[in-house]
Amino acid sequence: MKLEVDRGLLSKEIDELASISDAEGPAVTRIVFTPTDLRARSWLVARCEEAGLAVRQDPIGNIFARWTGSEPSAPAVGTGSHIDAIPNAGKYDGVVGVLGGLEAIRALRRSGFEPKHSIELLVFTSEEPTRFGIGCLGSRLLSGVMSAEAARGLKDKEGVSLEEARQTAGMKGPLEEVKLKNGYYKAFVELHIEQGPLLEQQRISLGIVTQIAAPATLRITVEGAGGHAGGVLMPDRKDALCAAAELILAIESLAKTSGAKDTVATVGICEVFPGAVNSIPSRVGFSVDLRDTSLERRDGVLRKIRDTLQSVSTKRQVSVETEQLNADAPAECDRAIVEALSQSCKNYHQTSIPMVSRAYHDSLFMSRIVPVAMLFIPCRNGYSHRPDEYAAPTDIETGVSVLADALATLAS
Ligand code: HGY
Ligand code: MN
Ligand code: MN
Repeated sequence: MKLEVDRGLLSKEIDELASISDAEGPAVTRIVFTPTDLRARSWLVARCEEAGLAVRQDPIGNIFARWTGSEPSAPAVGTGSHIDAIPNAGKYDGVVGVLGGLEAIRALRRSGFEPKHSIELLVFTSEEPTRFGIGCLGSRLLSGVMSAEAARGLKDKEGVSLEEARQTAGMKGPLEEVKLKNGYYKAFVELHIEQGPLLEQQRISLGIVTQIAAPATLRITVEGAGGHAGGVLMPDRKDALCAAAELILAIESLAKTSGAKDTVATVGICEVFPGAVNSIPSRVGFSVDLRDTSLERRDGVLRKIRDTLQSVSTKRQVSVETEQLNADAPAECDRAIVEALSQSCKNYHQTSIPMVSRAYHDSLFMSRIVPVAMLFIPCRNGYSHRPDEYAAPTDIETGVSVLADALATLAS
């Protein structure tokens, strides 16, 4: 199928969307349900309507832009990703899958292709965990992995509940209505930057994701004893930050010694109270992001982390509270869709390799209710979640062409 992808328009749209941000360019920050996020959503809905798609939004703000097929009641073929961005991020994470998915649909419509199964672009709410501590809120609710009740209980750092935030943002209807009916989709394919260096290093055009790693997130609070930095002698201290430091290094070591390179652990947030130069820290809160392609290995490291929390707590006479925000299973991608993507790569004479996704994505949760696969394009040096994240227009065009070819196959 010969398709014309409008590379220039797509690049312009990626830049335009990147300009709707709460950060100084080239960084992008777009946190769920902020005024900036809402402006970005309106901009995107306008692009989908211009493309002739029927657009709707569900109670958590997932956006659905549908190209109705000749059999409107048949299960649809979905594609899409997210447009929310963590603080100081780049402009391609998620966006390539949303604007690339839109351009794939536009290219198919320009080609005269007529789908039997509807093709639907999905923009998921809050793929990033930034505001409510847990990622993929939209897809967790769509797939039923998270209940409406559990979602209502989420609060941000200012104590604003998800319920309040979404209603202020104009999202209507009960969260119970977000869960998709069985058979709504027949397939879901997400285009995304690799967020790793392999494709670029091996000079391969595309990655076909066969597995998505299993993420777990903990929030740990260490309570010691505060005091005067001059007046309290070392033997008398219960310094919460020194205890946290020992825990953080132990967590790093447990990930490094798990027996596989697929185990990764990150402490991305660490808050010290009272945070005065001459006051012994009495309380420290830090996050742990732990992932592995093997559920068993990840949970084994989780158990060892809990043991370490206990032993350091006893040794240093500090209290350690642990809140587990999520501990999700990995996803296996669907063979038939992996095969369809592989065939589309061949149709476009593009090299491809099977890959594991170490980042999580909405596809991880969509895989609980529909066969999924992902298509990766290279990103420079594998950089992501940083302002110098970059994907070449030619690589994006290749990804969009192959995605469009696969969508046509799946929707026929
Ligand atoms: O953290 C992740 O894997 C994704 O980018 N939210
Ligand atoms: Mn991300
Ligand atoms: Mn992403």
